[in-house]
Amino acid sequence: MFSIDLADDAQLFPLEARHAEEFFAHIERGREFIGQYVGFPDRSPDLDAARAFLAKYAVKAGEDGPRFFGIRLDGTLVGGVLFPAFDADGGNCEIGCWLEPAGAGRGLVTKACQVLIDYAIGERGMHRVEWHAATGNKKSLAVAERLGMTREGVMRQNYLHRGVRQDTEVWSLLAHEWSAARSA
Ligand SMILES: CC(C)(COP(=O)(O)OP(=O)(O)OC[C@H]1O[C@@H](n2cnc3c(N)ncnc32)[C@H](O)[C@@H]1OP(=O)(O)O)[C@@H](O)C(=O)NCCC(=O)NCCS
Repeated sequence: MFSIDLADDAQLFPLEARHAEEFFAHIERGREFIGQYVGFPDRSPDLDAARAFLAKYAVKAGEDGPRFFGIRLDGTLVGGVLFPAFDADGGNCEIGCWLEPAGAGRGLVTKACQVLIDYAIGERGMHRVEWHAATGNKKSLAVAERLGMTREGVMRQNYLHRGVRQDTEVWSLLAHEWSAARSA
């Protein structure tokens, strides 16, 4: 299995259906924290559902579409980053993230997103990377800002989560902005 070091004790790796048990154990630990803003814990009530969820994304990854990556801290899956949208022909993609509490506050998601942006822009020639987060999700919005993204606006009441329609902020980073930040 290949992985990329985010720190001495943390690695980023492609999250696949064969990791379902590890993934489900992680969801169980982080269900409430992650589920505040992210839908997949609610859609993964048991191991079979978690496996089916990862398998669905494996199919999409095989089509060069959306894909998931896990983050392990001291060998334990504590979160991940993903491309919820990945359109290589159009040059647009979106990045998302989540952590269970044990992984938070260490910069792991920011570093993992930097790896994904390097891949998307540097290797795959993407022009635009988007970030979507609920207006109340201050920690997620702080990641977008830390990555050098620009706030573009708000999609009003576009995301139905746990029975509530949430507003979503859209942030983005363009290829030339990332290159300039990288060489600065
Ligand atoms: C969004 C979420 C992933 C952010 O987690 P996070 O730990 O704040 O993000 P990072 O891993 O980038 O870490 C940044 C934090 O580590 C700190 N940090 C420590 N070392 C750092 C380093 N080397 N580099 C960057 N930040 C570092 C930062 O100061 C920051 O902490 P602060 O907010 O107290 O200032 C997390 O809150 C979460 O999973 N929430 C629930 C699910 C969710 O909302 N997902 C996103 C949906 S849009």
